[in-house]
Amino acid sequence: MMKTIHILFGVLLLGLIGCTPDPKSGKGFTLPEGDITRGKSTFEQLNCQACHTVAGVTFDDTEQSSNSDSTDLKVVALGGEKMAVQTYGDLVTSIINPSHRFAKGFDQADIASEGESKMRNYNEVMTVQQLIDLVTFLESHYSVKPYEPTPYGPYSF
Ligand code: HEC
Repeated sequence: MMKTIHILFGVLLLGLIGCTPDPKSGKGFTLPEGDITRGKSTFEQLNCQACHTVAGVTFDDTEQSSNSDSTDLKVVALGGEKMAVQTYGDLVTSIINPSHRFAKGFDQADIASEGESKMRNYNEVMTVQQLIDLVTFLESHYSVKPYEPTPYGPYSF
């Protein structure tokens, strides 16, 4: 009997250890609701459109994505249909820690140099409220591509 209890206890303990999240994980991270309209103005204010387009959005700025002061930079399109959900965890990370993971579908030499993203760093100037609104604005312009099964031909034996 005692032995069974010990084994049970051991199993329970293992289970507990297994479920303990990595202290560095994003689990439990939740942003308050932002404002899409304010997010759009923030995007313009911070001149994100110098390097980005957003699917289905036109900006007042006529200089949009002309990259006039940074000619060697690629325009990185944001929003639109993606294969996977762009979570706000992904978006926040892309904005405040751009070198953590680079945008997909680009030659790394075009968007980064020496492992550092070419994206401007805003961490000293952006308020948390601006970040929240930006993420809400961007999130509203992403959608997930519906899954299309590979069209296999009929089996031929
Ligand atoms: C000087 C050019 C530049 C500016 C200005 C800039 N970015 Fe970027 N951004 C980039 C580049 C280059 C990438 C691709 C490399 C990477 O993922 O970091 C990128 C990537 C991103 C991504 C990830 C895209 C993906 O598909 O993974 C997001 C989101 C983003 N930027 C948001 C913003 C926002 C919001 C602003 C304004 C506050 C901004 N950027 C300003 C250059 C810029």
